[in-house]
Amino acid sequence: MTDRGELHDSAGARSCALGIDIGGSSIKAGLVDLERGRVIGERVVVPTPQPATPEALTNAVCGAAAEVLTESPVGASAAESADEASTTLPVPVGIAFPGVVKRGLVTFAFNLDDSWLGTNIEQTMGAALGRPCVFLNDADAAGIAEMTFGAGRGWHDRTVMMLTLGTGIGTALFTRGRLVPFTELGHVEIGGEDAELSASASAKVRLGLDYPTWAAKLSRYCREIEKLINPDAFVFGGGISQDHADWLHLLDISTPAAPAKMQNDAGIIGAAVHGASVPTGAQR
Ligand code: BGC
Repeated sequence: MTDRGELHDSAGARSCALGIDIGGSSIKAGLVDLERGRVIGERVVVPTPQPATPEALTNAVCGAAAEVLTESPVGASAAESADEASTTLPVPVGIAFPGVVKRGLVTFAFNLDDSWLGTNIEQTMGAALGRPCVFLNDADAAGIAEMTFGAGRGWHDRTVMMLTLGTGIGTALFTRGRLVPFTELGHVEIGGEDAELSASASAKVRLGLDYPTWAAKLSRYCREIEKLINPDAFVFGGGISQDHADWLHLLDISTPAAPAKMQNDAGIIGAAVHGASVPTGAQR
């Protein structure tokens, strides 16, 4: 892949897209090979500005996108061959957001600055990036990546519940391979308290819990999800899934469970897949 033409197959279908994953502590971005489900070249990681106001976050996302395009050989050659006078990014863009974005508007953002609520994030970011971009929830993005290329690949005949364990608990529900978007089941209340306050990976650190104690809290949460959703399988993602050997066997649940396979790239890859699958101008 050395020139812009090679970013597209002979039928003109897009084969490469920019994926951006906005998290509570960092923003990750990378160009994604959509056939292989892999980040091409270096991913760029920048800190999430604090407070993550619309202006600060937009600047940080634009900085990360520009860095991907200049750092990556594919992005640099694509940018060079794009119309010099245009600021338009040469590939589709998908952005994973830790909240709910409906028809371009942020309607829920539990772990970000409140000033996001009611903002048209697709317009704001699209104008700043110089091309339309498509938003989806970060856990939905990770789920798309796992169902397409990772742990859920052979499970398109089942109901799969992907849980991302990080700053919060993200949930992505798939039934027969189709995503039911924007489930916010990390906020189910357990004992009168939002579940992510005691069962997320950040809660483990904040409360100083060892693996058995945290696994007991996560089990209680998962049993609640079993009762409400009856999934056929769980996929556990988020940074802590890389240490699954320390805790997966401690879970006291009835549903088969597997660790995520795409690790830190899941959000970037799922965002890029989504960005390339929604036609320009048709994003919701
Ligand atoms: C947010 C979700 C997000 C999850 C993981 C939760 O606090 O409400 O939208 O998917 O954190 O980032």
